[in-house]
Amino acid sequence: MSALTSDPIAFPATAAAPRPAISAWPEVGTLYRRFSELVQQPMRPIRPPEMARVMRYFDERCQGSRRLAERAQAVIPGGVQHNLAFNHPFPLAVAKAEGAHLTDVDGNRYIDFLQAGGPTLLGSKHPAVRQKVNEVLDACGPVTGLLHEYEVKLAELVCSVMPGVDMLRLLGSGTEAVMGAVRLARAYTRRKWIVKIGGAYHGWSDQLVYGMRLPGTGRMEAVGIPHGVTGHTQECHPNDLEALRRKLQWNRLRGGTAAVLLEPLGPESGTRPVHPGYNAEVRKLCDEFGALLIFDEVVTGFRLGMGGAQAYFGVTPDLTVLGKCLTGGYPMAGAIGGRKDVMMLLVGGIGTTARRAFVGGTLSANPLSCVAGYYALKEAQRCDAAGVAGRAGDRLRKGLDEIIQRRALPYVAYNMGSIVHLQTSGVLLMDTGNLYKLWRAKDEAKARKHMMEEMGAAYTAHGLVTLAGSRIYTSLADTDEVIDDALNRFDDVFGCV
Ligand SMILES: Cc1ncc(COP(=O)(O)O)c(C=O)c1O
Repeated sequence: MSALTSDPIAFPATAAAPRPAISAWPEVGTLYRRFSELVQQPMRPIRPPEMARVMRYFDERCQGSRRLAERAQAVIPGGVQHNLAFNHPFPLAVAKAEGAHLTDVDGNRYIDFLQAGGPTLLGSKHPAVRQKVNEVLDACGPVTGLLHEYEVKLAELVCSVMPGVDMLRLLGSGTEAVMGAVRLARAYTRRKWIVKIGGAYHGWSDQLVYGMRLPGTGRMEAVGIPHGVTGHTQECHPNDLEALRRKLQWNRLRGGTAAVLLEPLGPESGTRPVHPGYNAEVRKLCDEFGALLIFDEVVTGFRLGMGGAQAYFGVTPDLTVLGKCLTGGYPMAGAIGGRKDVMMLLVGGIGTTARRAFVGGTLSANPLSCVAGYYALKEAQRCDAAGVAGRAGDRLRKGLDEIIQRRALPYVAYNMGSIVHLQTSGVLLMDTGNLYKLWRAKDEAKARKHMMEEMGAAYTAHGLVTLAGSRIYTSLADTDEVIDDALNRFDDVFGCV
């Protein structure tokens, strides 16, 4: 028996019984009413003298980060590589990450609600995963290019927990996996059109830099992308089933729709939440029009429980895109999973002459990523990480609601388990329902984006690292004490408004 065939970390039979990671779906009608109130009234930013105090924090306490950020400016465009990482007034340089906390190079400690953009559901640097990764690195290094046992174990595990996944193909990132899933859907259906839901982020591949962040914005960000490449991508406003039906009908007259691609919570990880029955209705429409349904579960996969959003909603997609939590924060997080008959069009290897949708990647499915993913998911399953992180998200959101009401602020907090949204500037919620509104939104978006950056800076100066100042990921490491500490800090920030 190989050293790897038995699981050296014992997973006790007394594993935590999973609780639904989402305790209650937000009341969508009320939320949209509050969004519209938020964006119709004047902004409520941090008061200028308080903002000056925030900036002093960076001047006085973050000199090491500043120096590194200045060096970075010379060799990295804009001095920052991560689109969503906090970077106002400059990015923090991190020296340590452990559990629920980050420490910067100047020794300042923060509660980490960025969670690297979502993958570290167990908290940072979980020892159970690190130990197994080190063992594999000692045995064979990070990559061999041949089959490794953890590749199979990870695929078996994912197939056993995700309702819509019979087979899995590992790739390098969520972006690559979405790109591959679209290609696969086109190969399988022999159709061209792809319909996405406006505002959703599906990575940065040429054909999906389309309708990003704000619904209806089409090619607004498609700089450097020829029109032809996005020529068969369409977008529909979230929750608008009639518009989706019309698109599918229209496409039927000109070759048909290969796939409807969506984030199952709603665009941008539920920033604009879907009505609870929406995904099931989209499933029906896909069946009626012969299009594949692709769930982009890059964020929701495992963060909403082992079965992802598809298990929560009870809707089985034809294809599932995974990323982030799939490898627990270790590199190369991307996979396409799905129905066997569709997935068989992804056969790998140089020997095949079968008709296939070509995907690849030198480092895809390397032993390091696979062992990390396998143990991160096993540990998440054993501890019910999604359920625990979900309760932390509930506690945080309830506390934020209380602060917002007590201070009579127009802000909106809501959560789907461990994904907590905190809308203060409303920049992602502006109404872009028609061309005039879209045109008006462009200018206003700049001011609202600036406010969001200022809020992000103020959170940081109060010891809270968030995702772009408006989203918070909780993790297994977020105990009640961590959340209560965070709430006191949010209260201090909101006292500066
Ligand atoms: C829903 C969704 N899809 C796809 C991606 C792209 O994944 P990656 O950053 O691994 O390329 C992201 C990244 O944030 C995402 O949130």
